[in-house]
Parts: sequence; C-alpha cells; structure tokens
Amino acid sequence: MHDYLMELLVCPACHGELVWAVTERQGNDIVSGRAECPDCSADYPVQEGIGVFLTPDLPRQDLWEEVESRLSAYLREHPDIERKLLETPLEELAPADRFFRAMILDERGEFAEARAAADAATAGLYTREYLECSERQIEFALQLLSADTAPVVDLASGMGHLVERLARRLNRPIVATDFSPRVLRRDRRRFSSFGLGDRISFLAFDARRTPFRRGAVHTMTTYQGLLNIREPGDLLRELRRVVSGVLVALTFFFPEDDAANGALIEEFGLAQMAYREPALAQFRQAGWSVQVAASWKGVARPTPPSVLLEGAGIDALPAAETTLEWCVLEAH
Ligand SMILES: C[S@@+](CC[C@H](N)C(=O)[O-])C[C@H]1O[C@@H](n2cnc3c(N)ncnc32)[C@H](O)[C@@H]1O
Repeated sequence: MHDYLMELLVCPACHGELVWAVTERQGNDIVSGRAECPDCSADYPVQEGIGVFLTPDLPRQDLWEEVESRLSAYLREHPDIERKLLETPLEELAPADRFFRAMILDERGEFAEARAAADAATAGLYTREYLECSERQIEFALQLLSADTAPVVDLASGMGHLVERLARRLNRPIVATDFSPRVLRRDRRRFSSFGLGDRISFLAFDARRTPFRRGAVHTMTTYQGLLNIREPGDLLRELRRVVSGVLVALTFFFPEDDAANGALIEEFGLAQMAYREPALAQFRQAGWSVQVAASWKGVARPTPPSVLLEGAGIDALPAAETTLEWCVLEAH
C-alpha cells in the first residue's frame, strides 16, 4: 500500500486514529509494518505490500481461498487431471477448464499464459451480449472518470478486471480492495509483472466495514461488486460515510419476475442489489442521490460447467437464461 493512504485510514472497528510502525518500504510503497488502534487495541498488519484491515466481527466466505485450496488439494490427488488441464491444446478444452487452467497458471506466476487461457475461456463462458454490455459499461465508466486525477478506490476488486482497465487508462492512483487477501496477493504480483505496480495500492477489508475516515474517498468504483456482497446490511450507509465525491457502480440487474434466478438470489442473501428499483430505493434511503447514468439489456445464460473437474462451475448466477440490464450507477 502506498504511503499516501496512511492519512486516509482509521480503525475499521471503532474509527479511532491508528499508530503506524513501518518495517519495510520500497519507495512510497509500504511493504510490511503494522497499524495499531490505541482506542480498541486492534492490530492491523501490512504484509507483502497489502494493508489488512479485516475485523473479526463480520462473517465472511472467502471463495478465492476456498476454491483455490480445494482445487490445489484435488489436483495433488489427481495429477493426471492436472496434466490434462495444463497440456491439452487450449482450443480443445471446455471453456470452464480453460478458466481453471488460467487459475493454476496465475497462481504459479505464469501471468501471460494465464491471461491467454482466461481470454480463451471468456468467449465460451458468456453470451456475446453479456460481453458487449460489460464492455460498454467499462468504456462508459472510463470516460466518466477520465476528467479527474484524485485516487480511485475500487471495491470488491477480485481478480482486478476493472482495476487493470482503470490503471492502464487513467492518470489516477488506483486502490484495489477485497476481503480476500489471497486474491489481492495474486493481483499484486500480476500487476507488478505487467509494469502497473507503481499505480496500484492494495487494501484488504470488508466493504461493509471499511477503514476509511469520514469523507476520505473522493472517487469509488465497483465492477460487479455490489451484487457479490452477501448479507450487505448497512453497506450503502458505510459507503456514504466514506465517499465525499462520487461512487460509480457497474452492476447488472435481474428482472423482478425472474423466479428461476430469484430463489438463488434470496438463498445467497443478494436480493438488496439484484433488482433495479429496490436497489435504487436502498441507495436513496442510505442518503445517496443516485442516477442510472447508462444502461444496456442483453441475454445471459448459465456458464457451462467443467468437463475435467466433476461438478465444478464458474458463476452461480444466472442459474437460468434471463435478460439482464447492465447499468452504470452514478451516486453522490
Ligand atoms: C467477482 S468479483 C467482482 C469482479 C471484480 N470487481 C473485477 O473487477 O474483476 C467479486 C469480489 O467481491 C469480493 N467480496 C465479496 N463480498 C465482499 C465484501 N463483503 N467485502 C469485500 N469484498 C467482497 C469477493 O471476494 C470477490 O473477489
């Protein structure tokens, strides 16, 4: 994490001031150290360049940790499957298996090969409309964000699809965040190998309990982040507390009468952000002035499952074909 962030951060648990001890730096980047909160005695490490501001009170399911440790345990027991995943010509693998090959290569630090496998996976996993609508969303957001130079904090960054586009296109410092330190560690290595290390900082925290001081975030983005946050509770109020400028949220909405996907959306605790009008109402209730700055509709289908890894799939939603509305929300 870059040192300009220190003055923006407080204890995520009690909002007390932090006392910093930096033990290793590379230029402006803090590689290791710790931040202590004298008010509530919480202690937050900076490890491998990632500030870890997770609090013990919120339950969280780190799917990166779960899927990747399950995948590596499975492949250790089945080296023949690992060989097939890695050695079969890419074009002969099912799209989901190309994705799993990308995950293995990414974990090994073979980032260029991982990118080629991930790109080959994407075209087979998603409908043309899905990909076109996502691309339009991102282009629209990049235009919107190009006029300013203040840092951009990206929420629930995952593999950093949006973070990479922001870092390549904008002349602004970017902060990648997620509650999974594991995915951020990999992002950091990958982005550094792509020459983007100087532009991107990394903070691990739960979006529902951020470590930012009131009003400290000028610009926040999120790409398919809101819909992935289970049991969001007061998420939008917490974001309202910390954002002083604009929140640009790239998301998609399900039709309200989509019973086939609706059951799963309820089961995952995702209903708050899954439907357009109720989601906008939630924003307003939390004190935001929000508008749909742009939107596009397209057909989405369930991502086809793996052939080599029995029972393994990619996205849980949509579970049945549907028409989604991709929106760029602009909230002040
Ligand atoms: C599929 S990713 C979204 C795509 C990503 N924004 C990108 O640009 O590639 C969703 C991410 O949300 C993260 N996530 C889920 N719940 C979260 C929470 N409460 N706080 C922070 N991150 C969360 C997950 O770990 C996952 O990495």
